[in-house]
Order: sequence, then C-alpha cells, then structure tokens
Amino acid sequence: MLWTASVLAFVAIAQAAPKCTHKLKETIASPRDWEILGTAPQDHIIELRIALPQPNFHLLEQQLYEVSDPSHERYGEHLSQDEVNELVAPNPDSLAAVTEWLAEHGIPESQYTRSPANDSFKAKVPVGLAEKMLDTKYHVWKHTTDGDVVVRTTSYSLPEDLHPHIELVQPTTIFARFKGHRTTFHFSDEQNVDPSPARGTATIVDPTSGVKVDASCNTTVTITCLKELYNAVGVETSATNGNEIGITGYLEQFANIEDLQTFYADQRPDALNSSFETVSVNGGENNQTLSEAGAEANLDTQFAYGLTFPTPGTFWTTAGAPPFIPDSGTTTDTNEPYTKWLDFVLAQEKIPQTISTSYGDDEQTVPESFARRVCGGFAVLGARGVTLTFSSGDGGVGDGDPNPATQSCLTNDGRNVTKFIPGFPASCPFVTAVGGTIHVPEVAVDFSGGGFSNYFARPWYQEAAVTGFLEKLPKGLYKGLFNPNGRAIPDVSAQADNFRIFLSGRAVSIGGTSASSPTFAGFVSLLNDARLSAGQPPLGFINPLLYSVGVDGFNDITVGNNPGCGTPGFNATKGWDAVTGLGTPNFGKLKDIVLSV
Ligand SMILES: *[C@@H]1O[C@H](CO)[C@@H](O)[C@H](O)[C@H]1NC(C)=O
Ligand SMILES: *[C@@H]1O[C@H](CO)[C@@H](O)[C@H](O)[C@H]1NC(C)=O
Ligand SMILES: *[C@@H]1O[C@H](CO)[C@@H](O)[C@H](O)[C@H]1NC(C)=O
Ligand SMILES: *[C@@H]1O[C@H](CO)[C@@H](O)[C@H](O)[C@H]1NC(C)=O
Ligand SMILES: *[C@@H]1O[C@H](CO)[C@@H](O)[C@H](O)[C@H]1NC(C)=O
Ligand SMILES: *[C@@H]1O[C@H](CO)[C@@H](O)[C@H](O)[C@H]1NC(C)=O
Repeated sequence: MLWTASVLAFVAIAQAAPKCTHKLKETIASPRDWEILGTAPQDHIIELRIALPQPNFHLLEQQLYEVSDPSHERYGEHLSQDEVNELVAPNPDSLAAVTEWLAEHGIPESQYTRSPANDSFKAKVPVGLAEKMLDTKYHVWKHTTDGDVVVRTTSYSLPEDLHPHIELVQPTTIFARFKGHRTTFHFSDEQNVDPSPARGTATIVDPTSGVKVDASCNTTVTITCLKELYNAVGVETSATNGNEIGITGYLEQFANIEDLQTFYADQRPDALNSSFETVSVNGGENNQTLSEAGAEANLDTQFAYGLTFPTPGTFWTTAGAPPFIPDSGTTTDTNEPYTKWLDFVLAQEKIPQTISTSYGDDEQTVPESFARRVCGGFAVLGARGVTLTFSSGDGGVGDGDPNPATQSCLTNDGRNVTKFIPGFPASCPFVTAVGGTIHVPEVAVDFSGGGFSNYFARPWYQEAAVTGFLEKLPKGLYKGLFNPNGRAIPDVSAQADNFRIFLSGRAVSIGGTSASSPTFAGFVSLLNDARLSAGQPPLGFINPLLYSVGVDGFNDITVGNNPGCGTPGFNATKGWDAVTGLGTPNFGKLKDIVLSV
C-alpha cells in the first residue's frame, strides 16, 4: 500500500515538474546597512530586466581585443552595430523559452521590450506577479544611514528548464546605491576663494617633465591649468571632423547652461554662447532652473566640454533617483541605471567616441552576475570604437566612508571579514579607471580609489605592469585584504581636487575622482580629434594601447598613498601603481604615439 501511494505521488510530481519546479537562481546574504521596512505592495510596479545568455560573448571579447591592440593587424577596425548585435545575440531556443514563459504569465509581446540584439527583455509587472514568476517575496528595504528605499529580495528562483536560458533577472538582489564620486565641496565666497597667488604672478616648473604651470594651479584648477600641466597649450580641435564627447548624468542631475556660460566667461571665453546637446534617457530630468543645477553634472560638463571646445558635446540625463516611495502603481527607480543608459546608447547608430562617467558604487554591493553583464555591455561599446572612462572612486582602498574611524570595510557576503573595497564599474576590465592627483608638482591624492577586483581577473594588457607593482609590495603585507589576481585599478589618473566650477551662479571649489574622469576623457577626446583629422579611426577601448606603447606618454606619479580600511593603503611608485595607475597624461607625447599606431 505504502509503496503504491508513493509511486502515485511521484508520478503526479513528475508530470507537473516541467512547468512548476522552481530552482534557486541566486541568493545573497542579508545586505549590510539595509533594514526591512515591510512587505512590498503587491500592485507596486517594477520593471523586470531579464538577461539571456550570450553564447558567443567570447568571440566579441576576442574581437574587442584584436581591434584595440595596436600590435594587431585589425587595430582600429571597430565593429558595426549589426556586427556586435550578432555577437551578443542569444540562442533562438532561449528567445523562444523566455517568450513562452512571459506568455504563460499573461504578459503579451505588447507589454515588454527587447533589446536590439534580443539579449534582454524588459517587462513592467506588479510585484505580486514578479513574486510568482520568481518564486520569491519582495520587501521594502531602507538604507540605515542615508535612507534610500528600494524594493528587493535576497533570493529568487526560476523554473528549472529556464535556467540555461536566463542569465539573470533584476531588480532582485541588487542593493547598490550608485553615487556620484565627490569628496570635497566648498562654496567659495569671493573673499575666501583661493589662497594661491593670483594668476600670472609665479610659475612652477615640474622638475621631472620640465612642464611650466602657473603657480595658482597648485590650489585652483582651471581649464588653462590642465592644458599647461598636461602639455596641451594651444591645441585646437575641429567642430566638424565627426569627433564628439559624451558625459553621463544620473540621479536627476542636469547640467545648467547658464552656469556653463559663466564658466566659459571665466575660463574659456572663446567658447561663450556654445552649448551641448542634452539627451533625456527614460524621462531623465532637465530642469534648467538655476538653483536646481547639479554639482556633479556641472563639474563633468564644464570641464569636459571646456577642454574640448568646439568638439560637439552630449549630456545624457538618465532617470531614476532614490529616495522613492514604493506606493501602488508607480514604477520606481531601480538603482541600476547603467543598464538603462546602456540599452539606450547601444541602440544608437552613432555614439560619441569618448564618454565619461563619474558615478559608481562598491563592487561588493553589485551582484557578480549583474556586474559581469553590465561590464559586457561596456565591452560592446569598446568594440564599436568608444572609449569609456570611469572615476576610480573616492575611498582610497576603502569603502568611501568619509570617517576613517568607522570605516569597517567588512564584506557583504555574511562573513563580515575585512577586505579592501574596489569600486564598480571602475573594476570592469573593459573601461578605463581614472584615479586622482593633487597639487603641482603632482602627487597622488589620498582619496584616489585603487586596488583589485574580487570579480574580474587581471586582463592580459596589465599583466606586466601589475606584476611589477606586486613584486615591490612588502612580502605578506595586506595578505587576505585584496585579490592579487584581480583586475587592478586605476589605469591612469588626473587632477582630482580644487576644481573651479560654477554652480547655481556661484564659483565653487570641488573635487573627487569625479573631476579626474571627465578631465582624462577630455584629453582622450583631444587625441581622438587628432586621429580623426588625420583620417584614422578613433581610439576605442584604449587600455591595451595605454599599457603598451602608451606608457611613455604618461607623467609617472611616485609620491602619495591611498589610505582606507584602517591601513595606509598602497603607495604611488615608479611605474604602474594601485593609486595613480600609469600616471597623468602628457598630451603632446600621447598625440605622437596615437598618430603613429
Ligand atoms: C531579434 O529578433 C528578431 C525577431 O525575432 C529578429 O528579426 C532579429 O534578427 C533578431 N536580432 C538578432 C541580432 O538576432
Ligand atoms: C602647493 O600647495 C601645497 C598645499 O597647500 C603646498 O604644501 C605646496 O608647498 C605648494 N607647492 C608649491 C610649489 O607652491
Ligand atoms: C556671445 O553672444 C554675445 C551676445 O550675442 C556676443 O556679444 C558675443 O560676442 C558672443 N561671444 C562669442 C565668443 O561668440
Ligand atoms: C524645476 O523645478 C522647480 C522646483 O522643483 C520648479 O519650481 C520649476 O517649475 C521646475 N522648472 C522646470 C522648467 O521644470
Ligand atoms: C555580520 O554582520 C551582520 C550585521 O551587522 C550580523 O547580523 C551578522 O550576524 C554578522 N555575521 C557574522 C557571521 O558575524
Ligand atoms: C609604502 O612606503 C612606506 C615608506 O617607504 C613603507 O613603509 C610601506 O611599507 C609601503 N607600503 C606599501 C603598501 O608598499
């Protein structure tokens, strides 16, 4: 009897299995610094992003490296939009399986969108339905220190037969907060603006490079200072050779055009009356009210466009900002806006050749599966000939907690062990991570984000440089605190403090690797300008070039360190280091190098 009963039960389960058996897809430890406020309203709408596996991604990566390696015969032969789409397209089986799964849950084709390569789906669904699809329970979570509110879960499942067809679904387990990189921020009234000598009264000569810089640049960084310091005095660009530069903006920040004019009057009078194109992604704000201007957006645009005028500039304002109220019926920010921006920009036929982003978060708060997928999107952009610069972060080797005493650097994986905390997306091997320097002659700035990824292995292009650095480290120092085999950051650096910008009509001094990324991007754009004017393709993914023939085009920074996690961090050293990377750009030298490859 008993035997018969269990056989029957088994048969019943086996018949139901193909549709009903959910299997765990991802689970994370309860995230540090977040607390549950309650269950999520069932009718609250979230936008599920379903990423399908890209079985040929390895071919895309291979081609990216070929077209980015100056010693390869395919150097500069970037891929078209159709070519990259084909390389990241999913298996037709996966496409069919996901389409069927959505249909089973009553989501018709009219209610979701697919990326041009068909490798991701986006569907707005009520939480109640998402919970059924993913066999999970969403909660409303609040960040304990800054009050950000998100709707998330710590684990989700998928029908077993769908596992080979879906790489990840978000927002589920992502608890990243995604901040602008900014440390200091002083409103300077005219009388206490600047302790340095007035411009034109003294000159500092860099003993190593011989470069002459106005003494005021030691404490107030302007467009003129950067051109002097990085050997680009008198460089002119074309408005019409097809070169463009782009700046990404998030968190409802927009760049104010009136402030840009005031900045130009102050630092770049020949650019007065020129502007840039604002492109709103997903309904991103562009409120030109002067008092609502964004510091990050103004900094990034004023310096990037100021360095490269008259090169046309684009500013993307991407929607999504905490805090939000997870009430019924509203779609929320998802705190993963890179993907929104990536979806948007990858669908464009023409993309600016140089793009800077000054936002990021601790790598460990971004689930590894998601980080890999986003990083893959950056590889696609690189293959299409785009250089992406990202700030390396403002926490030295630590987690960016401005108070070193409370900086715990504990891991988020439930084990609570102390580890250096690298930043993402800087840790993605397909972007150029920009650290920071200060003063003239330049030394490393102490907040310069640097270290080693715990997700991404060290890419071949930085093998020699990073091994050289690791060999110089005192034996056994920081053992267990970092992953010596990881992708190392930063790649390069640039000035990162005392930038004079205009914000809501006032002169402000501002700093952070937020300043160094648009600065470095500005110089890359000047290099692209030279290449396009010479009939050459743009630089695209630039790291393989920088670490090989490019090394001689850098000012090596050898003084300073980047403390964090209760340690002095790494030292700036001769050659590449985990504080300032290869160093700061010498435009004149880099120009000769990039024109000869
Ligand atoms: C995406 O799917 C559509 C329709 O199924 C198809 O026409 C198109 O070729 C696919 N794109 C790629 C890159 O496979
Ligand atoms: C630059 O400023 C720093 C900090 O104020 C100061 O210590 C240094 O002496 C200055 N350098 C020069 C060359 O004036
Ligand atoms: C900007 O516009 C003003 C007013 O139209 C004009 O007087 C000025 O010459 C322009 N400046 C430049 C650099 O074009
Ligand atoms: C910008 O925002 C302010 C304050 O939120 C509001 O008063 C103003 O009407 C907005 N302006 C525009 C152009 O949207
Ligand atoms: C890690 O820290 C969290 C939050 O402080 C705590 O709830 C948890 O018990 C700790 N886990 C371990 C293994 O110490
Ligand atoms: C940094 O340099 C100091 C002084 O030379 C040395 O004591 C320390 O061990 C070095 N730290 C690292 C991480 O290399």
